[in-house]
Amino acid sequence: MNTLFMHCRPGFEGEVCSEIAEHAARLNVAGYARAKPQTACAEFICNDAEGPERLMRELRFSQLIFPRQWARGAFIELPETDRISVLLEHLAQFPTCGSLWLEVMDTNDGKELSNFCRKFEAPLRKALTGAGKLQDDASKPRLLLTFKSGREVFVGLAAADNSAMWPMGIPRLKFPREAPSRSTLKLEEAWHHFIPRDEWDERLHGDMTGVDLGAAPGGWTYQLVKRGMLVTAIDNGPMAESLMDTGLVQHLMADGFTYKPKQPVDWMVCDIVEKPARNAALLETWLGEGLCREAVVNLKLPMKQRYAEVRRLLDRIEEGFKARGIKVAIGCKQLYHDREEVTCHLRRLDLKRR
Ligand SMILES: C[S@@+](CC[C@H](N)C(=O)[O-])C[C@H]1O[C@@H](n2cnc3c(N)ncnc32)[C@H](O)[C@@H]1O
Repeated sequence: MNTLFMHCRPGFEGEVCSEIAEHAARLNVAGYARAKPQTACAEFICNDAEGPERLMRELRFSQLIFPRQWARGAFIELPETDRISVLLEHLAQFPTCGSLWLEVMDTNDGKELSNFCRKFEAPLRKALTGAGKLQDDASKPRLLLTFKSGREVFVGLAAADNSAMWPMGIPRLKFPREAPSRSTLKLEEAWHHFIPRDEWDERLHGDMTGVDLGAAPGGWTYQLVKRGMLVTAIDNGPMAESLMDTGLVQHLMADGFTYKPKQPVDWMVCDIVEKPARNAALLETWLGEGLCREAVVNLKLPMKQRYAEVRRLLDRIEEGFKARGIKVAIGCKQLYHDREEVTCHLRRLDLKRR
């Protein structure tokens, strides 16, 4: 079990390698990262068998930026027939697991394999339960089988509360037909990722106010309005009429980089496609000056050194707040609905609700 296996968006394998290698070096876990381009996965091969478990114990999965899923384990080969017996034999050394997910990579080959997984899952589940290897218990580790082909599978484990929320880290969110743009799913996914479900009613509710910078046509504003908030939408472009009809939206044609609300608001969200340093500066201003208590802002990724650049900006934000004595929780993730960008979430921890 010396391998930590990670899924990611195709094309971001190098970012996963840089990110995990940096954490491993900091935590003194010896090993090396490797990945092939466009495979939507990467591995960290540890020198010691305990390495992957240590990484998973020391790191919170939700704090990783580029990995969409992770598991510790090993690849095994499967025969053409009776794959279940071979899997059961391999799993003899595994603990009883609390859940089972069958996964594939987010590539065209992976999509073709998902049919095979669907058919294979029921008989496998039955066999594992019969052999005492699977019980419905969230406190037990999750068994993650990632199929590279029908003949090769990564058999891995991850804690259910310290790994992806959805198989392969891909959320199953339904596009609301009334929403003005597909981007709406980005903000909804961000909330799922950054705000525990049992805190939604307290942190996203109808007595709140929000500002949406770069709002048109209104996919993100739609999400704020859906939670009942009063929203100021900043954009020179037109907002969807259906949103304006709710009476909850004030549309201002202004520059999102200079606009400031007269009264502090609860939420600021920003989906303006700009240089990442400019959007990061918005976060520093809005959170730092107490103009909002929580914010979700997209950071467009540079062409090269994408992990290094994001890390540099996040470190700068964090150090800046620390120097000013401002307590802020900072999260950053390449969400499934993000392409060449990552999504940041910041929350002031030292401001009471007004
Ligand atoms: C990606 S779109 C936003 C989509 C929106 N979040 C949605 O869900 O419908 C980016 C928007 O930012 C706006 N924009 C670009 N620069 C801006 C600026 N300096 N101030 C305000 N809005 C800006 C553009 O007009 C565009 O409508």
